[in-house]
Amino acid sequence: MEKSELNKYILKFHSLVKSELLSENLITSEIVIDYYPKSAFYYKKFHSSGGAMHLPISFSNVVSHEEKLHYQAKSIEKVILEKGYVNILELGCGMGFNTNYLAKRNSEIYFHGIDLTQSNISFAEQQSRGLNNVKFSQADFDDPQSYEDKYDLVFAVETLCHSKNLHDLIERVANKINDNGRLIIFDGYVKQNKEQLSDNIDIQAYKILTWGFALGKFKNLSEMVNPQNFSCLELESSKEYSENVLPNLITFQKGAKKALRHSFILRVLLRIKIISLAFIKQLGAGLTAPYFIKNNYVGYYKLEFKKTAPINTDEQ
Ligand SMILES: C[S@@+](CC[C@H](N)C(=O)[O-])C[C@H]1O[C@@H](n2cnc3c(N)ncnc32)[C@H](O)[C@@H]1O
Repeated sequence: MEKSELNKYILKFHSLVKSELLSENLITSEIVIDYYPKSAFYYKKFHSSGGAMHLPISFSNVVSHEEKLHYQAKSIEKVILEKGYVNILELGCGMGFNTNYLAKRNSEIYFHGIDLTQSNISFAEQQSRGLNNVKFSQADFDDPQSYEDKYDLVFAVETLCHSKNLHDLIERVANKINDNGRLIIFDGYVKQNKEQLSDNIDIQAYKILTWGFALGKFKNLSEMVNPQNFSCLELESSKEYSENVLPNLITFQKGAKKALRHSFILRVLLRIKIISLAFIKQLGAGLTAPYFIKNNYVGYYKLEFKKTAPINTDEQ
């Protein structure tokens, strides 16, 4: 989308949502707790009736939407099986789509999913009926008391972007991973060596993007891939999937543009509470995400870390 067209839609968007809402840039649990229960309906209706809340990964030979949504879980499963892991934790498991899929296919392996949003956990539990190798708990991953056990592999799909302090969270999680275990993260990041946005349209669009995803801001990739960053984790691989998430995001953008052309009707529906602010947030994310990916500002990555022995600073 050209900048002039983007600007036209930003103006329509602002006519719907008061600008002070767009300047809300603190990550608070309240924002997340408010957003996800209300957005679950739209996720189930328009994205995945099975409760996936993440982006599908497209390849030319993969046709079905469902299969594209299973990409992340399958790539994690490959590591679990290769390494013989038996005890797995998913952080921010949402409605349990990934964990339930893996638990169904691997009855000898134990899975635990945690999520802040109770309604997501309830849906995940319903979907896991009949499985005895999976457990879901309502918990905040930013709270140190959320991790009781040790795991062979911890994974997180599009959720750590919500963390209040990602570095400390990862350090804590690393302590709960067994030696030679893994941490696998799929998420969006601001790409390396990016200057701060200076163009006013870009700044406005970025606010809509982060507000739309219920984030304060996207984390910087450089904070994750710097080898010195974590005391007992080593980055084993980093793979970019920006091109593979774009097709779905472009479809999402087309839908958002179509809806925003009727901003007057949206305004009325919002006022009489037929649609919620969560829906408008999703329109905002859909409208702006492809712009930032195409312009190489934000990228979608899989990062795989290996648990190592802590660096002994006394020897230096
Ligand atoms: C985009 S959804 C992804 C859900 C799931 N990983 C998936 O792939 O379908 C992000 C999830 O992160 C959860 N979340 C956000 N902040 C959290 C926190 N501090 N602790 C635990 N879960 C959190 C939200 O409740 C939401 O379910």
